[in-house]
Amino acid sequence: MEKEKIVEILNKDLQDEHGAIIQYLSHAYAMGEGEMACEIEATAREEMRHLDWLAETIVELGGKPSLKRGTMRMGGKTVPEWMQNDVSLEEGAISQYQEHIKMIDDPKIKRLLKRILADEQAHRKDFMHFVDKSKKEGTTDHRGSRKDSVTKMLNWGIEHEYTVILQYLFHSYMAPDPEDKKQFEDQAINEMQHLGWLAEELVDGGGNPKIEHKAPDQSTQTSKMLEADIKIEKEVAEAYDKAAKEVEDKGLKELLQRIRDNEIYHMDVFKDLLELEEEQMGLRNVDQLPDSGG
Ligand SMILES: [Fe+2]
Ligand SMILES: [Fe+2]
Ligand SMILES: [Fe+2]
Repeated sequence: MEKEKIVEILNKDLQDEHGAIIQYLSHAYAMGEGEMACEIEATAREEMRHLDWLAETIVELGGKPSLKRGTMRMGGKTVPEWMQNDVSLEEGAISQYQEHIKMIDDPKIKRLLKRILADEQAHRKDFMHFVDKSKKEGTTDHRGSRKDSVTKMLNWGIEHEYTVILQYLFHSYMAPDPEDKKQFEDQAINEMQHLGWLAEELVDGGGNPKIEHKAPDQSTQTSKMLEADIKIEKEVAEAYDKAAKEVEDKGLKELLQRIRDNEIYHMDVFKDLLELEEEQMGLRNVDQLPDSGG
């Protein structure tokens, strides 16, 4: 099979992993704090590892990881219905991986897909168990319909965090330098924490998180990536600072200040990397001068 075709197949799987992550996180946040919500968040983290493995494989094949969100099943009025939707999503993933394992000849990629398939089969069982458990325990939807400036601000934060998670993951996959890669990934993980904090805060306060994103920067040149990332961190640090000053609740104020300080840290990390990158670009340019050999 041609590389382009394999990339296309793996990108379909990657998009569906993305959909699964958002579906499971939405359910976990909406259920409020509790053991089941924690277990579902852990499942979403396993899907993130799948997404990571698929993206790295796509890059190895010379492709670009897709940032589109694939199949989701978000209907259902009660928690057992949501859990049933999660079972169905896993069933769809299982048959798709089985089909893709048959189609792909490359032994290493086949092995990877089988590895992922085994996880999906375990997840399907977990969610079947959660259908019963949520019925037995009477788990309910904890979201409310509060709509005011605070819930609006929290949903703005969620939208921002989701956008930069995608942006930094994409940059980590496309950056050639290992230190750049590591930093992009580290900051993406920190933005995932922010997303979780904001969504939980929103549900606790009687709101309803909307997990949507804006268009992430998809530069493929390191200096362009870093410039875009510094710009967005600067804007958002200022916005969190302003929001922290405006809210009255002490706990929320502290949360926003903590996130703001993290964003300032991200900005400084990216600035250092850009400086290094520019130095190296300068050196590369000197190397290329015709008379530089002396
Ligand atoms: Fe998965
Ligand atoms: Fe953040
Ligand atoms: Fe940030």
